[in-house]
Amino acid sequence: MPPLANKRILLGVTGGIAAYKSAEIIRRLQDVGANVRVVMTHAATQFITPLTMQALSGNPVHLELLDTDAEAAMGHIELARWADVILVAPASADFIAKLTNGEGGDLLSALCLASRSPLAIAPAMNQGMWRNASTQHNIEQLRGRGINIFGPAEGSQACGDVGPGRMSEPEDIAELTADLFETGTLAGKKVIITAGPTREAIDPVRYISNHSSGKMGYALAEAAAEAGAETILISGPVSLTSPDRVKTIAVTSAQEMYDAALAEADGCQLFIASAAVADYRPVQVSEQKIKKAADSLTIEMVKNPDIVSAVAALQNRPFTVGFAAETATVEQGLELHARGKLERKNLDLVIANDVSDRTIGFNSDDNAVLVVEMKSSEAIPKINKSILARQLIAKIAAMIPN
Ligand code: PMT
Repeated sequence: MPPLANKRILLGVTGGIAAYKSAEIIRRLQDVGANVRVVMTHAATQFITPLTMQALSGNPVHLELLDTDAEAAMGHIELARWADVILVAPASADFIAKLTNGEGGDLLSALCLASRSPLAIAPAMNQGMWRNASTQHNIEQLRGRGINIFGPAEGSQACGDVGPGRMSEPEDIAELTADLFETGTLAGKKVIITAGPTREAIDPVRYISNHSSGKMGYALAEAAAEAGAETILISGPVSLTSPDRVKTIAVTSAQEMYDAALAEADGCQLFIASAAVADYRPVQVSEQKIKKAADSLTIEMVKNPDIVSAVAALQNRPFTVGFAAETATVEQGLELHARGKLERKNLDLVIANDVSDRTIGFNSDDNAVLVVEMKSSEAIPKINKSILARQLIAKIAAMIPN
């Protein structure tokens, strides 16, 4: 099993006879260095006590969504952020249905909703419940959302039935959980990612900017760090929390982002420009707030330096990846526009997205992209930005020379 030193696994335990096996999962994950925290549903506490799970994990067990003491220590959103991976084992049919419906009425469901980390479930239930069309439909839905389904195994069940529905063995679940971590695909590499918008000042209170939230870039930084890279995130003004294990440099304007990128570029093997950099800035920045006396106002603009082109032009250039924010679908020539940027900016790869679609691109949780290389392209359909980021990082890591 790959080592999990410093990896943080949140183990969710739902109500089912297999709950006793989750104690063994804690042990197996700890054997390879993982830090495990446990969240239990009320039904789970009928099968195994929180005290047992606390003693084994070495951490307090979390039970309540609305518990002021628990929230003061580590609130549910902090817990969701804490987890590198959420593993729910056993996952009952009832919990699977809640997860499919996006319910958040209990702590574990709320955590799964709030978290951007990979989620895995190990179903455990009676064979009839597992075979039921509703459960199978739910499982397919979850699989389609990128949720990992571990098992179930087949065999004799606690209720006396024989068939599929037994929870997989703890060693197998621990092994599959460890495999979720992209350990080492970018180990030893320095990666720089730009993210968010830039703001170009007009006067002390006004600026020109765009709708980038930074979600795509932050997800990429998180995935790169997870893959073992020394990760530097150069971020325009956003309201996101800096990912763990990432050095974040906060900038405001395009010029500041350019300066930070070139200052950090030395020794970098991978540069990903996901920031929505303002192409122009006002020639003059008024020192005083501009009064609204005149009926019209003309602002003269000058072009900003192109950050990703400058990095791609360096002598020891990193593998350089640009994004292309286009208002065109695949049918309307998204690839052609992206290919133009690939060539003009001398990039190794362009990730194109259609930002006219409000459900992807700017400020949404999902994105759908076309990954354009010199001689080929690959479409990745709409998916959560965190999952997409991991897929992109895995793809790019395989393209970087060692
Ligand atoms: O932040 P989110 O809300 O999650 O939204 C994500 C996103 C839509 C911003 C992201 O997926 C995206 O498309 N980022 C690129 C936005 C953009 O500015 O695209 P562009 O086609 O105008 O620029 C092409 C490339 O040149 C980009 O890699 C850009 O970072 C880079 N560039 C542009 C201008 C400039 N002066 N310097 C640059 O480096």
